[in-house]
Amino acid sequence: MSEATRTATESLPEIVREEVGQPELGFLWDFWYPAMRSDEIYGRNLATATLLEVPLVIGRTSEGKVFAMRDSCPHRGIPLSYGHFDGKNLQCSYHGWEFDACSGRCVLIPSLTSHDKLKVERINAGHFPCEERDGYVWVYMSAAGTKLPETVPAAPELPKFSEKFKITRLDCELPSHIDHGIIGLMDPAHGPFVHQSWFWRSKKSIHEKAKQFEPIPNGFRMSKHSPSTNSLPYQWLKKMTGEPVTTTIDFVLPNMRFEEIRSGKYWFSSRATVTPVRRDCCRIDFVAAWNLPLPISVFRAFAKVFLRQDQETMIQQSEGLKHNPRLMLIDDADRPAKWYFALKQNLIDERRTGIAAPHPMSGPATLHWNS
Ligand code: FES
Ligand SMILES: [Fe+2]
Repeated sequence: MSEATRTATESLPEIVREEVGQPELGFLWDFWYPAMRSDEIYGRNLATATLLEVPLVIGRTSEGKVFAMRDSCPHRGIPLSYGHFDGKNLQCSYHGWEFDACSGRCVLIPSLTSHDKLKVERINAGHFPCEERDGYVWVYMSAAGTKLPETVPAAPELPKFSEKFKITRLDCELPSHIDHGIIGLMDPAHGPFVHQSWFWRSKKSIHEKAKQFEPIPNGFRMSKHSPSTNSLPYQWLKKMTGEPVTTTIDFVLPNMRFEEIRSGKYWFSSRATVTPVRRDCCRIDFVAAWNLPLPISVFRAFAKVFLRQDQETMIQQSEGLKHNPRLMLIDDADRPAKWYFALKQNLIDERRTGIAAPHPMSGPATLHWNS
């Protein structure tokens, strides 16, 4: 232990807990992640979630503000979610310590008497910045643990392009490390095999495609283009508006895929995030908004089929991955996956060294594949 660390620890005996993310788990800290749906927290109930292997207790104060605390009492580790929440303070079920839910700071230790000198306010149960957007509770997973980060960027929001729109959300859990979830999400070559169905495409419709990509900050973009003509929904859309259909797809670290489809006055906007729950489990949260004459129930029925197809494939893949096989990334179909790994590594290195690495794409690139 360095001199500096020892002094810092000794001056705060067993009070402030340091929690720094473990880099070997392949998680990216200091980003917002969706923890749950907003409608899962109502009244004074306490909900639980796990993000990046951190157990969280999530609730809403009587003023309506969402909060996320580490779900572990700093006294003896019992989950705070077993405790009682009065709309402001969360009381541990074991010895009744009370914590301010919005800061994690301890405000009361019932056993203390006037003989005790313990500075209650120096104890913190661990609290993470928490915001609501698009019907999700987002938690900023700060590597600084109990210490609040100095700057927190705005929580992500799904782009919408008109006042009135429909919106819907779906999710599914995958028994996979986040990296497999993400490269599965951006992989163009599995479509004709995993997602063949009458309403989307058949295996026979496979043909060569060329797609233009460009670098964007912390990610890459499949440049605006006319989507595949072998998919029925795009054909319907074009017939309906009589105008060309265009689509743009972005991937942005740590885990987001945005898609924007436009045709005349109509738009469709979606975002899929792959959130690390534990090292062997991630969750896809999919939110879509649109102003097309498309009923939510119809869209959900189709989207569920898609998600289920991906989920079944990932469950099967996880069987194989248990044996730790050597894997391959091939050009061009796996090039987006290579960019993802390079962007992620660059960011980890940059945060460690303070030196910015160049974007893995030196400029626009065209990729070719059959799908
Ligand atoms: S374990 Fe929570 S107050 Fe003792
Ligand atoms: Fe898929």
